[in-house]
Amino acid sequence: MSDIPSANPEQHEYWNETAGPKWAQLSDVIDTQIAPLGGEAMDRIGVSAGLRVLDVGCGCGHTTVELARRVGPEGAVLGADISRPMLEGARARADAAGIANARFQHADAQVHAFETDAFDLVFSRFGVMFFADPVAAFANLVGALQPGARLGFVCWQGLTRNDWMLRPMAAIAPLLSLKPPSDPHAPGPFAFADAERVTRILQDAGFGSVRVEGMERDLLVGGGGSLDDTVRFLLQMGPAGAALRDAPKDLRVKAADAVREAIAPFHGDEGVRMPAAAWLFQATRPA
Ligand SMILES: C[S@@+](CC[C@H](N)C(=O)[O-])C[C@H]1O[C@@H](n2cnc3c(N)ncnc32)[C@H](O)[C@@H]1O
Repeated sequence: MSDIPSANPEQHEYWNETAGPKWAQLSDVIDTQIAPLGGEAMDRIGVSAGLRVLDVGCGCGHTTVELARRVGPEGAVLGADISRPMLEGARARADAAGIANARFQHADAQVHAFETDAFDLVFSRFGVMFFADPVAAFANLVGALQPGARLGFVCWQGLTRNDWMLRPMAAIAPLLSLKPPSDPHAPGPFAFADAERVTRILQDAGFGSVRVEGMERDLLVGGGGSLDDTVRFLLQMGPAGAALRDAPKDLRVKAADAVREAIAPFHGDEGVRMPAAAWLFQATRPA
């Protein structure tokens, strides 16, 4: 049962009971891995002083804190997330960083009654691919923006474009009877891999001037460290972690060996660096 108005009960349960506590525990290493993509997105969008920003699916608040720094004391950021444990981490992070211009809201962004016409920018780093009804969700977010204001978010391109998730999955596939997803657009990390579909979603939701750019770079998987640390990280997170969630111990041991072999060629001085590809979507609420 959801404790907030929600149109996404499965995701509510997933991010509160299953994934959220794990993310909260590993959030700093996850952030070290994906911060380059979030930072590049903020640079390209042009997050500048004075903006009022809504950070959707803000998770443990790393982007909210960074946005708050960039908009400065004249601006403000609201981080919204469906996961209570992740928001607890976000509030603690902002307090510890002495951030006074960030607030947090426990909310399902698809249906939450955000203040209307209140934001200059809706931002998200990997927090918008989990809506049961993405058109309804983005229509809700359009209303939170001032007319003429902007949306900018980062989402993953497809699995085959992301070696850091593909290779561990390919390594464990022979050990598990994995079936291809019945609906490739179902809420999840790759729901927005098809850029044309996402463009249509944003247009149907009421956004204009939709544009998409690729962001391809090698990422330090699990934030760097030893090969064993990285294997442990990959067995807990991402699609391989999800596939192994209920696996018995002997299978996890075999999976660890297979993943170690698959990623070893990418291990160097700093850790395991592997190719990743995301989309940066930008759009505008028509004036
Ligand atoms: C992959 S995590 C990304 C977290 C964070 N943006 C980051 O980059 O570290 C996805 C986030 O989206 C949140 N989320 C999923 N569905 C949501 C919804 N309907 N409304 C608000 N947040 C949602 C999850 O709780 C989670 O924090």
